[in-house]
Amino acid sequence: MASIQETLKQRFQTALASAFGASYAETDPILGVSSNPKFGDYQANVALSLAKPLKQPPREVAQAIASALVVDDLCETPTVAGPGFVNLTLKPAYLAQWLTQVQSDPRLGIAPTAHPQRVVVDFSSPNIAKEMHVGHLRSTIIGDAIARILEFQGHDVLRLNHVGDWGTQFGMLITYLREACPEALTTSDAVDLGDLVVFYKKAKQRFDEDEAFKETARQAVVKLQSGDAESLKAWGLLCDQSRREFQVIYDWLDIELTERGESFYNPYLADVLTGLIEAQLLVEDAGAQCVFLEGYSNKAGDPMPLIVKKSDGAFNYATTDLAALRYRIGQDKADRILYVTDAGQATHFAQFFQVAQRAGWVPDTVTLTHVPFGLVQGEDGKKLKTRSGETVRLKDLLDEAIARTRSDLQQRLQTEDRTETEDFIEQTARTVGLGAVKYADLSQNRTSSYIFSYDKMLALQGNTAPYLLYAYVRVQGISRKGNIDFSALGDTPLVLEEETELTLVKHLLQLADVVEQVSQDLLPNRLCQYLFELSQKFNQFYDRCPVLQAEEPQRTTRLVLSETTARSLKLGLSLLGIKTLERM
Ligand code: ARG
Repeated sequence: MASIQETLKQRFQTALASAFGASYAETDPILGVSSNPKFGDYQANVALSLAKPLKQPPREVAQAIASALVVDDLCETPTVAGPGFVNLTLKPAYLAQWLTQVQSDPRLGIAPTAHPQRVVVDFSSPNIAKEMHVGHLRSTIIGDAIARILEFQGHDVLRLNHVGDWGTQFGMLITYLREACPEALTTSDAVDLGDLVVFYKKAKQRFDEDEAFKETARQAVVKLQSGDAESLKAWGLLCDQSRREFQVIYDWLDIELTERGESFYNPYLADVLTGLIEAQLLVEDAGAQCVFLEGYSNKAGDPMPLIVKKSDGAFNYATTDLAALRYRIGQDKADRILYVTDAGQATHFAQFFQVAQRAGWVPDTVTLTHVPFGLVQGEDGKKLKTRSGETVRLKDLLDEAIARTRSDLQQRLQTEDRTETEDFIEQTARTVGLGAVKYADLSQNRTSSYIFSYDKMLALQGNTAPYLLYAYVRVQGISRKGNIDFSALGDTPLVLEEETELTLVKHLLQLADVVEQVSQDLLPNRLCQYLFELSQKFNQFYDRCPVLQAEEPQRTTRLVLSETTARSLKLGLSLLGIKTLERM
């Protein structure tokens, strides 16, 4: 079924066409949820922008639209307010009808998209031999949520892990390990990722200090990139080691990803250069092959180049991204490519997007979007660090969230005088702890930085995962207590009368539009906010309205309201990659 905003939009367009002529049939009615429920549920602002072209006062335009609007099956009589807003209030009878329909719809009234696309979501993308850090955690959580939402809408999503598995770091590392730990180059599992990271740091230090080492390391990269068997074997072992460690995190967080690292595009790098020559964009500058960028200049005002092949012959990050882009459009048939990385890489994306566009590699039907996010900060507002000043290991961070949830839970069980099995405690601590980490990240507008606080994310009150999960558990409690089989509620006609019932159902009705909006602006925090408000509205309803004790038809109506709330919470949370629990 069409979402409420879609339905209203169509009604408005029909009204606009009949009031002002067929050329207005596609005009955007500028429709949104009313900011103040006093004025109704939805508000259209189009009259204000039509006043000028129509040469009529905005209130008159609004009046004409309101008179032409046919919505009596959905809404009370439209009203005009303020400078020219058209306000709509949904009818309880319509809401009851909607609720009845949604009750038997596994998609809760969210129709699959009419225009399925092939979407590449490039996310997570840690670097081999380096520890995955909180920036990668953000990318992983946000990218996964976006992918889940697009998949639910029926898009064909390719989740790509653009792992940093190629380039200078391997030259350094292989050269260093040959001296310090040769077995790491020939046997699997000779070192673990922690050691590898230490080796990497030492190798980097040597690289920066020791000219001879630097030269050997450079040659080692060239050797690797030209396909030397021994180097490739060592490289493969190092990658495997990192990969296994990354996988632990992905398993914990329930993340599906297809690894297609930078090395994958190695065979296509030369084509990037050929393509740029054909497009007459490639210029040699101080021995390097580059493209001069439009709109970027250095301090002296000279145009800045994007280097695609360094003077030593090496390709770089941007070259690989250009090759990847060509591959994703040409081979993967992508219509939309999303890159989820920290905001610090915004320039990199803007630059290689520009080069690709100027080279004619991006058809009009394809959109490229960098999906940036801010930093994760410690409670001191600085970059997140351990007490001893080290970068935080993701495994430790997740472990701690689970451990803290567990101790909160054990305390609660004690005060509530409950005994639970170890299995229950473990499952609950995991689900709530990991859900809380994800939710804390997703509930922030991704473009801002946020402060990582276990206390805040694990609080049972406020915009947190535990609060939402608890609302869900409350409904499960109702059905357990009343021994309710939601699938067999019979066909008692639903009747909505109480204020809190109406407020709740009107919120439930908005889920489809929120999901649609998030799929466009890629801001999962909107879905979080929606779910938080849903939990609040459910709690208000539940505090005011008896459910199991109510008479019919209220009893069935309220059971359906509760059940639809629970299903909306479960679906919404699942789109964020967060699991629900039946009890907690
Ligand atoms: N490996 C990069 C990093 O850790 C992120 C890669 C993002 N994806 C891309 N196509 N550039 O910063």
